[in-house]
Amino acid sequence: MSGSTPYYVTTPIYYVNDKPHIGHAYTSLACDALARFMRLDGRNVKFLTGTDEHGQKMEKAAQAAGMETQAFVDMNSENFRILTKTMGFTNDDFIRTTEPRHRAAVQALWRELKARDQIYLGTYAGWYSIRDEAFYTESELTQGPDGSRIAPSGAEVEWVEEPSYFFKLSEWQDRLLRFYDENPDFVAPPTRRNEVISFVKGGLLDLSVSRTSFRWGIPVPDDADHVMYVWLDALTNYMTAVGYPDSGSDGFTTFWPADLHMVGKDILRFHAVYWPAFLLAAGVAPPKRVFAHGWWTNEGKKISKSLGNIIDPLELTARYGLDQVRYFLLREVPFGNDGDFSHRAMIGRIDGDLANDFGNLAQRSLSMINKNCEARMPEPGEFTAADKKLLAAAGGLLGEMRALFAAQSFHKALIAMWVVIGDANRYIDEMAPWALRKSDPARMATVLYVVAETIRHLAILAQPVMPGAGARMLDQLAVAEDARTFAHLSPDHALTPGTPLPKPEGVFPRFVVDG
Ligand code: MSP
Repeated sequence: MSGSTPYYVTTPIYYVNDKPHIGHAYTSLACDALARFMRLDGRNVKFLTGTDEHGQKMEKAAQAAGMETQAFVDMNSENFRILTKTMGFTNDDFIRTTEPRHRAAVQALWRELKARDQIYLGTYAGWYSIRDEAFYTESELTQGPDGSRIAPSGAEVEWVEEPSYFFKLSEWQDRLLRFYDENPDFVAPPTRRNEVISFVKGGLLDLSVSRTSFRWGIPVPDDADHVMYVWLDALTNYMTAVGYPDSGSDGFTTFWPADLHMVGKDILRFHAVYWPAFLLAAGVAPPKRVFAHGWWTNEGKKISKSLGNIIDPLELTARYGLDQVRYFLLREVPFGNDGDFSHRAMIGRIDGDLANDFGNLAQRSLSMINKNCEARMPEPGEFTAADKKLLAAAGGLLGEMRALFAAQSFHKALIAMWVVIGDANRYIDEMAPWALRKSDPARMATVLYVVAETIRHLAILAQPVMPGAGARMLDQLAVAEDARTFAHLSPDHALTPGTPLPKPEGVFPRFVVDG
């Protein structure tokens, strides 16, 4: 892999006050699909995920559970590690903010900011939301029914007044605006970019970056009365994992700045305003891109613990299958938009796109080869214009999908694949190889070969989103395991006639309602 272009993609690190749900699985899934895509495309990938374990919210949650805080975060962090296994995520590292390597990185960043005169001691007097771990100004708040104040996220806030260190965020307004201007792809999608720019244009206040009223955090160097603001602590994880503060290390020189921080829209401000400001102030390059995706609702309702409608990714994959869930989440909603989860929509995709379209394409053509070509890859004759057209459509997919994955347009990349799946199914209907069996077996062999070669392309390209199904299809085509990367999507790696094939099995069954 050395010599290949690096690609560093990160998920947010998840709060461990709760069990993982579909929202967490979604953010990480998008990163996993990207990581797999880039690896298959020959990039040197680092894919990071992990857990965010400090702060008042964690301390309170542990108290509520009657547990010692470290034991509580250990237990819940493990659930996120299990999620990565259940969802088939291929992260190269799993970082926890309670690890010594991370404490060292955060304290080093603090020292750097201090040395550059970017941090000063004062007193914070204002509103704070423990649920969001965020400070709010009076003007951002609304009145709740009982007179309490509510943050834009719907979370309650409380008044905080305590000694605090501040980061000189106000000094970075112009520099940030220039940075957005010079880096038009830094925030995506464009609507989110506009939101970020107008927030920064509205003026920035200095940011409180330490707390003194609780202990569960990383101590401020040389002033142990303070623990660091959990967002300064958490954001730094992206650098810890590549070796910061050793900025000469292989990891750091190879992977920093990160290619992409994937986040939900709720945490965009932290990633697209505070984080690049901290980094610019510390003399470190900001990440290349932050993509803010939308939120899922469940059958039209906001997903929340109090409504009791949390979707458990483990239950979902057990019921529908892992590849099916992965496909649904990335296909159903234009990436970046909000979306609604419903069982009806899920089953519609499984029976329609997967079973009827893709599954049937593979099943019917491989069964015909099995029956009519002695279970060997048929030998093609000369290609007709129709054959060449289908092969060219399959051959053109990689270029199209590469551009769409680079833009995080997963749904469009899948739609592009389904255009070729539709073309291939129509080609079979028109060529009617079953009718050629007696009349022109040589032509039948060519048609089945063209379809098999198209399926080979589709299966290789399906792997980032549906690794299991893609692999099973490639097994059925007897494609060697070391011949499944995007480098093999060229005519000189085409299927070898005469290769014995295993007995075909359906890859995408229709969903059977149980009970
Ligand atoms: N700990 C912070 C992130 C720190 S990153 C330096 C955090 N954690 S979180 O566990 O609350 O959320 C993590 C991610 O899950 C966010 O990207 C958030 O948008 C996503 N989701 C949580 N609920 C969601 C939905 N209902 N739908 C889609 N994604 C959602 O924030």
